Amino acid sequence: MARVALVTGGTRGIGEAICVGLKAAGFTVAANYVGSDDRAKAFTERTGIKAWKWNVADHQATLDNVAAIEAELGPVDVVVNNAGITRDGTLLKMTFEAWKEVIDVNLGGCFNLAKATFPGMRQRGWGRIVNIGSINGQAGQYGQVNYAAAKSGIHGFTKALAQEGAKFGVTVNAIAPGYIDTDMVAAVPPDVLEKIVAKIPVGRLGNAGEIARAVVFLCSEDAGFITGSTMSVNGGQHMY
Ligand code: CAA
Repeated sequence: MARVALVTGGTRGIGEAICVGLKAAGFTVAANYVGSDDRAKAFTERTGIKAWKWNVADHQATLDNVAAIEAELGPVDVVVNNAGITRDGTLLKMTFEAWKEVIDVNLGGCFNLAKATFPGMRQRGWGRIVNIGSINGQAGQYGQVNYAAAKSGIHGFTKALAQEGAKFGVTVNAIAPGYIDTDMVAAVPPDVLEKIVAKIPVGRLGNAGEIARAVVFLCSEDAGFITGSTMSVNGGQHMY
């Protein structure tokens, strides 16, 4: 039977590309979303992948929805923590709400999904967790103390949980995307984005498929010896 993979923030952008990539690799895929129902419906029509609506920052809602997905599709063996938001602004302008929301969704979501799925993976002796970090969690970014802290936290979370999963066949890795051609990056002011792209050695933004293919590899049998790693997919913008 096909393994079940759950992708948070899965109905658009990088998340949609990951869902499509995992489905093509033979997984039964469940997508999570929190925003527009119409967009999620269109995603399901496009891809044949069902989507469940809840906020990954909500601990109980995560436990309840993962239980519902498992009742319908079977045990979740793969989780891709992709759901992420930005609330950019310099520290002087950043509100406490903008700080907390980003930490709760981007980092809290990883904890909530792991609490819902890691015990089962450990018990069954196989699992894959891939957390979507960011170049801005590795290098920092002006105007993003909330986002950089959350993404940097994801990289630490990954290395710690990898140690707990290793002897039970559960690998935990992170991808650190650079600037990818998505709605999130399109929201960066054009003059700021132009300067950022000028610093990417490959000379362009990345595309969602380039992240998805890296995720699919980390979820495969072939990647069983890779755990606790961070794969940078950033066109050479930050080498580390
Ligand atoms: N380094 C140093 N100084 C900088 C700077 C930088 N990178 N960027 C701006 N500044 C300076 C400006 O020169 C300006 O200085 P003066 O006042 O002396 O002229 C001052 O900071 C204010 O700059 P802004 O006018 O840009 O300030 P703002 O408040 O209007 O906007 C901002 C600030 C919202 C952070 C805006 O600069 C911005 O959106 N930056 C982009 C942030 C970014 O890259 N976000 C990534 C989103 S995509 C993503 O996060 C996905 C991923 O994982 C990669």
